[in-house]
Amino acid sequence: EQTKQATLQHHSKSAGAKQLIRDAVQKNDFLKQLAKEQIIELVECMYEMRARAGQWVIQEGEPGDRLFVVAEGELQVSREGQVLGKMRSGIVMGELAILYNCTRTASVQALTDVQLWVLDRSVFQMITQRLGMERHNQL
Ligand code: CMP
Repeated sequence: EQTKQATLQHHSKSAGAKQLIRDAVQKNDFLKQLAKEQIIELVECMYEMRARAGQWVIQEGEPGDRLFVVAEGELQVSREGQVLGKMRSGIVMGELAILYNCTRTASVQALTDVQLWVLDRSVFQMITQRLGMERHNQL
């Protein structure tokens, strides 16, 4: 328990950034099912990443090791060259490979310079396991 706790590093962010991440999580059908304490921890553990217009952030078929919340900018989702949709501020992306342990179901390319919040898969798993365990122990 001690070692798990020690590796959950928090990254400081503004109240507005925390709110944006929380809102994105609540809008996502899968992540909104997390317990309140798990969502709080997820918000604290996310760290910032920027990508330039044109950059591929997610590549279809690759193993996924992080999930993202779009903070700023616009990205395009495609599969086998077919455009599936666009992602803008306040949206979770890259969660499927993390939740289902599958390879990336689509590619995502930045259309503008973008700012993203990132959560590593290992941290996501610790949050779901650790806080799940604590709750179980209380029963
Ligand atoms: P993941 O499969 O991890 O990586 C690609 C991401 O694109 C995926 O998670 C979803 O977040 C997103 N995605 C997949 N399919 C679609 C779709 N049809 N429309 C919009 N977004 C999608």
